[in-house]
Amino acid sequence: MVIFKNINDIKKYISLKKEGERKVGFIPTMGALHAGHISLIQKAKEDNTLSVCSIFVNPTQFNDKKDLEKYPVSTDADIELLLNAGCDVLFLPSVEEIYPDGEANFKTYDFGYLDTILEGAKRPGHFRGVGQVVGRLLEIVMPDSLYIGQKDYQQCMVLKKLAPMMGLDNLEVIICPTTREADGLAMSSRNRRLTEPQRVVAAVIYQCLVSIQSKQLTSHFDIVRKECEDLLAAKGFATEYVALADARDLTLLSDYKTDAPMVALIATKIGEIRLIDNMLL
Ligand code: PAF
Repeated sequence: MVIFKNINDIKKYISLKKEGERKVGFIPTMGALHAGHISLIQKAKEDNTLSVCSIFVNPTQFNDKKDLEKYPVSTDADIELLLNAGCDVLFLPSVEEIYPDGEANFKTYDFGYLDTILEGAKRPGHFRGVGQVVGRLLEIVMPDSLYIGQKDYQQCMVLKKLAPMMGLDNLEVIICPTTREADGLAMSSRNRRLTEPQRVVAAVIYQCLVSIQSKQLTSHFDIVRKECEDLLAAKGFATEYVALADARDLTLLSDYKTDAPMVALIATKIGEIRLIDNMLL
């Protein structure tokens, strides 16, 4: 694996490799890598001849500065995992490298409706920051395909919108299934911050999603939502939303539909740790 910290060097390397008609698969991350990230690397390796991963904890997508300060960093362990996974290139830039003229001076994108609901509403400015950094990284790496995890469902929809906004009509945005722990908890870098008892109860989020899915033909969503909110509260969670939406455009739904693909989404906090998850119905 070749590691680059500098934009010009990685650009030169990738453009040389592209001359050999290579297909580049890109996996942007914020580090603290886990099996979910590694599944994205594996998929990118299957589909492409060059896999490029980035690790950059992007300050512009943290609406809560405390969350940024506490974001887990484990670069040495991450490099080890990427080496074992057979990743070809790692881009490890500094904040100054990505935002040399200050964060405010780099292009942002307007995601409209997607920025007004769920994560957009609860984390003002978050998707603006995600669009800004992924836009910047795409301009540097110029991949053929982008690999992202379904766990951040709304982010997936935002990034699907970003590609055409940037004029990257040929970029394939590939959404990979959420990797889960044995008890169903979605893998997330934030799980590392859970205490042992918090980790044990965190599986209830998955249980709620399964219950929303399994009751779609026999109940109404407002009833199931209330059951989930009560269950989460009983386990010590402060829930931000339990929502149902059209899986194609994230239009919020007040009840189950039989004629549309749906997605159930949950955001909830235990102690200081905010966890999100979703399930397609
Ligand atoms: O999902 C993430 O880890 C981040 O939001 C991303 C896509 C790497 C942008 O910083």
